[in-house]
Amino acid sequence: MILRAPALALALAAATNLPALADGDASRGQAEFKRCAACHATDATPRVGPGLGGIVGRPVGTAAGFRYSKALAQLGGDWSPDRLEAFLADPRGYAPGTRMTLRIAKPEDRADLVAYLATLRR
Ligand code: HEC
Repeated sequence: MILRAPALALALAAATNLPALADGDASRGQAEFKRCAACHATDATPRVGPGLGGIVGRPVGTAAGFRYSKALAQLGGDWSPDRLEAFLADPRGYAPGTRMTLRIAKPEDRADLVAYLATLRR
């Protein structure tokens, strides 16, 4: 039972933050995040890319201590789940000139990733 608690907490966090993405699986998203972790920390730490703690709902291109491309710095608005999925599908199509290039082709993988991102706190 103790072993199940973290998975339940993750599922609850994802369900609470993302009612529209009930099909996104945060624990699968966590496994998929290995592809992102080469460049992104799950807290505020800047690496090759900006820290992603609190990314869902955060204003685009505003992590402290990270120098963004003009493409992201000028995009505007907040990262909603829908915008994150569109960005991950085709970063350079969504924000021409961005330095983020990894494309996530499968919609279910994107939904899982965004469900996981919603569990990351600042
Ligand atoms: C090879 C390095 C690299 C990988 C791998 C990578 N990213 Fe990025 N990412 C970046 C860089 C660099 C930026 C900043 C882009 C810019 O300024 O144009 C960025 C920006 C972002 C942003 C916008 C952040 C903000 O503060 O507005 C999100 C969201 C994001 N990445 C998510 C992901 C996810 C999720 C993955 C894995 C599926 C991933 N990235 C994989 C390098 C990477």
